[in-house]
Amino acid sequence: MADCQRFSDISVSERILNSLFLLSIAMGYLFSLGQVFFVHQGRDGQPGLSIADIAIAYHGSRDQTRLAAAINGPMAGNLKSLTDKEIILDWIDSGAGQAVYDARVAPILQRDCLGCHSPASGMNLPPLTGYEQVAKLTEVDKGASIPSLVRVSHIHLFGIAFILFFVGKLFVLCEIPVWLKRLTIGIPFMSMLTDIFAWYLTRETPEFAYLLVLSGGLMGVSLNFQILLSLYQMWLPAIEMASLQSTLNVAVGRIKANVSKLAVELMRRGRQWTSAWWKGLAGQPMQRCMEKVRKQVFCFADSIKNRLPNGRRLF
Ligand code: HEC
Repeated sequence: MADCQRFSDISVSERILNSLFLLSIAMGYLFSLGQVFFVHQGRDGQPGLSIADIAIAYHGSRDQTRLAAAINGPMAGNLKSLTDKEIILDWIDSGAGQAVYDARVAPILQRDCLGCHSPASGMNLPPLTGYEQVAKLTEVDKGASIPSLVRVSHIHLFGIAFILFFVGKLFVLCEIPVWLKRLTIGIPFMSMLTDIFAWYLTRETPEFAYLLVLSGGLMGVSLNFQILLSLYQMWLPAIEMASLQSTLNVAVGRIKANVSKLAVELMRRGRQWTSAWWKGLAGQPMQRCMEKVRKQVFCFADSIKNRLPNGRRLF
C-alpha cells in the first residue's frame, strides 16, 4: 500500500494556498462568534450574552413579547434614544392599546424601523407599518418558529459541512497518533449535528440551551484545533532545522564566552578590592575567618569559570 500523504510531501504553493484557506476560515469563525453575540445579546434585558439569552432566542420568553425581546436585544441599536425604548415597553405593559400606539409609538417606529420592517424595503421582515401588525408582536414570545429553524438548519448543514470537510481533509495530513486523528476528525461533525438538534430541543425545553452552547463551543474548539495544528505542522519542518541548529549553537557559544570573560574580570577586580581592603583590617581571628570566606568564594567562582567554555551545566 502506498504511504499516505503528509504535510512534508506537499509543495510550498500548496502550503500557501492551504494556509490562506485555513486563516480565512479561522477569521470567519471569529466573525461568526461576533454574529452570535450581536444577534442574541441582551434578550433577557441584561447587557451581554448569557445562556438565558440563547434560551430566549429559541424557546422564547414567557414574560417578554417578541417586540420587547427585539428592542431589548438585537434591535436595540436601531432606536435613536433610550426614552423611546421605555415608551414602547410602557405601551406593551399597559396593554398595547391603539390610542397610545397612534400618539406615541407609531412615530418612533416610523422613524427608526420602517427602513427595514416594511414591505417597501423588500427585506421580508415582520412589517411594523400598522397597529394590527405591531400588536401581533406584543403577544407572548414563543421563540424561534419551526420554519425559521428549518431554514437555518439547512443553510448550516450545507455550509458548515463543506467547511469541516475541507479543513478535515487538510488536517488528515498532520502527523499525530492515529487514534487522536480519527477522534478529532469526527468531533466537529458530531458537535455540529448535536448543536442543530439542540436548537429544536431548546425550543421545547429551555434547559437544552446548555447542550446547544456546549456542542457549539466544542465544534469551535475542535475546528480551530485542526486549523492551528495543520498550520503549525505545515510550516515548522519547512524551516531548515540544520541551519536553525547552527545559528543556535553560535549564539550559545557567544553567550558562554562572554559570561566566562565576565567571571574572570569579576575575580580580578575582587582580588584587587579585597587586598586593598584587607590591609586596613586588623585582628588575626577576623583575618583568618575572612580568608576562609574569600577562598570559598574564589573557589566557587573558579569552578564556574572552568565549567563555562564547554560544560553543559549552564545551558
Ligand atoms: C437595518 C434594518 C433593520 C432595522 C432598522 C430594524 N430592524 Fe428589526 N430586524 C431586522 C432583521 C434583519 C431582523 C431579523 C434578524 C433577527 O432576528 O435578528 C429583524 C428582526 C426584528 C424583530 C423580530 C421578529 C421575530 O421574528 O421575532 C422585531 C420584533 C424587530 N426586528 C423589531 C424592530 C424594531 C422595533 C425596529 C425599530 C426600532 C427595528 N426592528 C429596526 C432588521 C432591522
